[in-house]
Amino acid sequence: MYTLCWSPKGGSGTTVTTVALGIAHDEPVTIIDLDGDVPAVLGVNDDGPGIYDWLEATRRPDLAELATDITDELRLIRCGQTKSVSPIAWADLADELARSNRYVVDSGTRAHMNDIANPLLLQSARTLTVLRPCYLALRRARIAGAAESDGIVLVQEPSRAIRAHDVATCLGVPIAAVVHIDVAVARAVDAGLLAHRLPRSLQTLEALAI
Ligand SMILES: Nc1ncnc2c1ncn2[C@@H]1O[C@H](COP(=O)(O)OP(=O)(O)O)[C@@H](O)[C@H]1O
Ligand SMILES: [Mg+2]
Repeated sequence: MYTLCWSPKGGSGTTVTTVALGIAHDEPVTIIDLDGDVPAVLGVNDDGPGIYDWLEATRRPDLAELATDITDELRLIRCGQTKSVSPIAWADLADELARSNRYVVDSGTRAHMNDIANPLLLQSARTLTVLRPCYLALRRARIAGAAESDGIVLVQEPSRAIRAHDVATCLGVPIAAVVHIDVAVARAVDAGLLAHRLPRSLQTLEALAI
């Protein structure tokens, strides 16, 4: 079973949200990094094979062999070295992730997946669009198909005129969670320490753990 997080615009908080969701689960969770920033947020290196290598391999190892332990309950499968992926391989990954364990997927801006009918989106237990309440992000969200997602994680900045209700109405998607911009989060990310203690402002995401 897996939750997929994406955003129509970089810098929204997708990676932070994905990592926080992984930590928020009581049960073991594996983060799948399709965009490359998760190791830095978790304070581990980028080295070694990852999910893109698995996707393109002729003989695929067990996914568990690619995972690194971060904490007792959290594991990470990195991006890896391969970058181009044949469309058919996404279906294999979707099948694999839907079949066993719990995963959260950081799929970044989704542009690199390049197909709105990507099986990875279609087979997820839940797809969350991570968004700041910004007109440019909203515009992109509509074009990129955010209306098909199951919920919005709104990363709320002070002094924005656009409110959660406006975002939900504009996209026709419920607000799954509101995360307030918090200096403790920014500092934990910059120090690669997010996995060690989830700042209180991100604990609102615990309600989304499935
Ligand atoms: N809730 C938050 N409070 C403060 N800073 C945040 C928060 N969420 C994300 N950030 C910061 O915003 C930047 C972009 O976050 P990131 O998760 O990398 O976005 P994306 O993956 O969508 O590009 C990072 O510097 C991160 O530290
Ligand atoms: Mg990211």
